[in-house]
Amino acid sequence: MAQTADLVIANGTVVTERLVFEASIAIRDGTIAAIGAAADMPPAAETIDATGLHVLPGVIDDHVHFREPGMDHKETWLTGARAAAMGGVTTVFDMPNTAPPVHSVETYRAKKALAEASSIVDFGIYGVLDEHNLADLAPLSEAGVVGFKLFLGNTTGNLPCPSDGAVLEGFEILARLGKRCAIHAENSPILFWREDRLKAAGRNAPIDHLHARTDVVALEALSKSCIFAEWTGARIHIVHESCAASLPYIEFFKSRGVDVTIETLPQYLVRAVEDMDRPGGEILRMNPPIRERRNQEPLRRALADGLIDIIATDHAPHSPEEKAGNRIWDIACGFPGVETSLPILLTLAKEGVMPLTRYVEVSSANPARAWGLYGRKGVLAPGADADIVLVDMNREEILGADRLSSKTKVSAYEGMKVTAWPVATLVRGRPVMRDGEITAEPGWGREVMSAMPPAAPRNLDKHLATLVGVSPAPSA
Ligand code: DOR
Ligand code: ZN
Repeated sequence: MAQTADLVIANGTVVTERLVFEASIAIRDGTIAAIGAAADMPPAAETIDATGLHVLPGVIDDHVHFREPGMDHKETWLTGARAAAMGGVTTVFDMPNTAPPVHSVETYRAKKALAEASSIVDFGIYGVLDEHNLADLAPLSEAGVVGFKLFLGNTTGNLPCPSDGAVLEGFEILARLGKRCAIHAENSPILFWREDRLKAAGRNAPIDHLHARTDVVALEALSKSCIFAEWTGARIHIVHESCAASLPYIEFFKSRGVDVTIETLPQYLVRAVEDMDRPGGEILRMNPPIRERRNQEPLRRALADGLIDIIATDHAPHSPEEKAGNRIWDIACGFPGVETSLPILLTLAKEGVMPLTRYVEVSSANPARAWGLYGRKGVLAPGADADIVLVDMNREEILGADRLSSKTKVSAYEGMKVTAWPVATLVRGRPVMRDGEITAEPGWGREVMSAMPPAAPRNLDKHLATLVGVSPAPSA
């Protein structure tokens, strides 16, 4: 063997999208140099004995809120990325509802500098699509955002839902750029109306948060997003699908050829609104809401069968004080998740919800494909980045707030038993976590570069840029 390797991961059980097999992996200069029998590996400067461990491509979590800039009492790039490394996550995409939001090249660059200085995992940064930044979308795309985010439903940060006119023109622009747009698909006017009516009537139970955002709130926004995407040729990604009633609509729009990918979250698979009546259950308040338990089974099946493409976390930390309050309406929405997703999903996989190969698909390969990273990331193959997680598939652990690396110690899974646990995380060949210890210095993480397939706009002759021949007005 001519060349030596920097590192060999020896004798593990390698899991890919298609196969589970015994093999060793040689790593050189941050990429995978070879996969094969231990005897065929080149001599290496270092060896990690993976006997008895499973070796998976690192998790790509396309939905985290690391809160910097502007809300670093909730999380920072340093603490968020460490939590990611603890959870076997090697790449995160950060949402734009920070302060200021990522609405321009300037705000994008400011966030990128923070991430580059602190992150120990690789990262992508979303730009926002709002009412006032249509002229910024092309410059943001050019500058390097991994994709865009549209908040149709309200959430943390003051990002009002844009008008339908602005959304449609935004999609026309994004369709021509070819970048994908993540969508928080809830109908704002309906949810605000219902919330006001419920509050005025003195309703104040955890389930009233769900009543304000009942299924039709999600169905309308999902359908509108898909109709606009079909019309314009924009690529879209529905984040945090929580609702079993959405599934037939998803099937319909996918069958029409809409370029839509769908994401769900662990909390929708293992938590239900019924759990919110237990003491402390109100911390499960999030958007879209965790729904009735009857939603769990169809969502699990859709994730296993392929209708849902991606598992992410919506890692959305808030301080314990922000997560407390006398009324359900006062409790901040969201909670941490980046370091507990892999144990929860692999425990479900062991219980028969999906094969390990499907977990690799939804946690790594599919997000890499959706966002233009596949080949470099999302796969264990020679030439790919050596983003790898080693998992002990026979380790029992109890989840809880006091175990979290996140800045805010709030858990939606207090006391939950899991039976799979990440024991090492490698980003581009370097261990960033081993045996529960962080082993990388801040700044090891790098920005990912999205390379999407050629743009496929539709109805170009109807696009406003064609009809009125001007770019959108510059932002105020
Ligand atoms: O509950 C939520 N919290 N849902 C979101 O979509 C965003 C998030 C946040 O940023 O806190
Ligand atoms: Zn979110």
